[in-house]
Amino acid sequence: MGWEILETGERLPPWAVCGINTNGKEGGMNKDFNKFAGTESYLTSPELRHAVNVSVALGRPLLVKGEPGTGKTLLAHAVVEDLSLELIAWNVKSTSKAADGLYLYDTVQRLQDSRFGDRQVSDIRQYIKLGPLGRALTSDKQVVLLIDEIDKADLEFPNDLLHELDMMEFSVIETGDRHVAKSRPIVVITSNAEKELPDAFLRRCVFHYIHFPERKLMADIVRVHHPEVGKKLLEQCLQKFYQIRSLDGLRKRPSTSELIDWIGALLQAGISRSEVAQAIPFLGTLIKRKEDYDVVEQGGTSSTRSHSMW
Ligand SMILES: Nc1ncnc2c1ncn2[C@@H]1O[C@H](COP(=O)(O)OP(=O)(O)OP(=O)(O)O)[C@@H](O)[C@H]1O
Ligand SMILES: [Mg+2]
Repeated sequence: MGWEILETGERLPPWAVCGINTNGKEGGMNKDFNKFAGTESYLTSPELRHAVNVSVALGRPLLVKGEPGTGKTLLAHAVVEDLSLELIAWNVKSTSKAADGLYLYDTVQRLQDSRFGDRQVSDIRQYIKLGPLGRALTSDKQVVLLIDEIDKADLEFPNDLLHELDMMEFSVIETGDRHVAKSRPIVVITSNAEKELPDAFLRRCVFHYIHFPERKLMADIVRVHHPEVGKKLLEQCLQKFYQIRSLDGLRKRPSTSELIDWIGALLQAGISRSEVAQAIPFLGTLIKRKEDYDVVEQGGTSSTRSHSMW
């Protein structure tokens, strides 16, 4: 297997795409190690399961990358379901600051209380509002902390989390309280690779690239969402779907979630297998850019054009 070149231009060696090379074997491993096994509604490759279990065993965050719609966010929900833990989600925005994830000191409320005499304002602790990371580190029980789309924030964001993610502890400066996690949270961090993450941050994580599902796994994923889909219609849809994805010149290739939407629309409209064979009904569920519409209609860019494709 050669190096994989991602849409972002990043190059991944085969071992990074596959995660740990266990040749797909899970038997023979320590039972306690194999904690996460996927769920009925979230289907995983063995490599992704290993990555989660390594992250849990080492107590290190799992950094998951992959094309949009390949189940990065859903993975945290699946870990929650499979291990029966609570989820704390932190949806990162371009304006997010790492410190806000720990706690906010609500000075405005305190000022108001002091003006209107509602509360005993000298007790600062009541104005400390824990953020998602703060709640995960102060929880009595182990939780799953999802830090979703870390690459949306600026570069300082991951750098500012190094200490907390390493030591799983933080202090509230205003009160002097120090909190040490009773049980290290399972941390799942997702990234769409919009920005490079700093090396010091990467060093502290277990990495997994969610490889785009091959046909067999994809068929199973679709069946989870649309158990009523007929075998022949599904085969036809998958053939068209992978053909579209292979077209040269597409700026945004359709992904798992778009395939699920497409098949959902076909089922609701009662479209038959032969109709899908002749055309691509509801293309707007798969293709989201005008330029990509043109590429699909032409069967690829001029260099790869093949009118017989559809
Ligand atoms: N392995 C899977 N098993 C079941 N459903 C899946 C799987 N992967 C993706 N899906 C479907 O795709 C949808 C999108 O998944 P999710 O939101 O986790 O993607 P994402 O990788 O986080 O995308 P983005 O980068 O755009 O946030 C899910 O709601 C689910 O319907
Ligand atoms: Mg997501």
